[in-house]
Amino acid sequence: MLKIQNVNQYYGGSHILRDVSIEAQLGKVTVILGRNGVGKTTLLKSLMGLVPIKTGTITLDGKDIQKSTPYERARAGLGFVPQGREIFGRLTVEENLRMGLAYRPASTPIPAELFELFPVLKQMLGRRGGDLSGGQQQQLAIARALAAGPRVLILDEPTEGIQPSIIKDIGRVIRMLANRGLHGEPVAILLVEQYYDFARELADDYVVMERGAVRAFGKGSNMEIDRVRELVAI
Ligand SMILES: Nc1ncnc2c1ncn2[C@@H]1O[C@H](COP(=O)(O)OP(=O)(O)O)[C@@H](O)[C@H]1O
Ligand SMILES: [Mg+2]
Repeated sequence: MLKIQNVNQYYGGSHILRDVSIEAQLGKVTVILGRNGVGKTTLLKSLMGLVPIKTGTITLDGKDIQKSTPYERARAGLGFVPQGREIFGRLTVEENLRMGLAYRPASTPIPAELFELFPVLKQMLGRRGGDLSGGQQQQLAIARALAAGPRVLILDEPTEGIQPSIIKDIGRVIRMLANRGLHGEPVAILLVEQYYDFARELADDYVVMERGAVRAFGKGSNMEIDRVRELVAI
């Protein structure tokens, strides 16, 4: 589905991503773990075309996308929930959700399925994004990414700074999306996460990054045996 092969990326003279290869499959949750500063966010930004890569290939359904703009990648089916959420604080919940539909015809309605996944957003349609709690903003950011009907949902640390009850809700939604898909279409999930227990619960496959490179990878069910907790302990 989504295939990243031998990606190298630099910020100025600093070699940040080193020969990174990762795949995300439809119907599966692939979790990327790693301590602060190892290059997780840079990898996701490279995937989305928000920072250029020096070498390597990124393919979606076998098609090269590494030269596509972020807009083209979103249209091709990559949905991105950035670290820190980045919702529009001064726009309403409804307007934020419409931003997710920006490249669809203007009359496209907000998919009702989003309100089944996140009922709280329906009650808050007219509120400003900035007035929501952190957890509600995170749900809004995920719903905004889902509004476009992505085939790959890419999330950067969605549990960061969020209360446990909403973390549970978000985990349930991620699992449900992997199992059942979105509007009946299968979805691949690529989840960057530092919260080990959440990652362990959701991972079908895991990847551990260290200093810009893949240090370990395997099945989610082997994370204990593979001692992943120790690899990512701070
Ligand atoms: N815009 C930038 N310019 C220069 N260096 C950056 C930039 N963004 C991140 N870095 C550096 O790249 C490395 C990886 O950062 P990042 O991808 O944010 O890591 P993570 O998401 O795993 O915490 C860090 O050393 C960080 O300081
Ligand atoms: Mg990060």
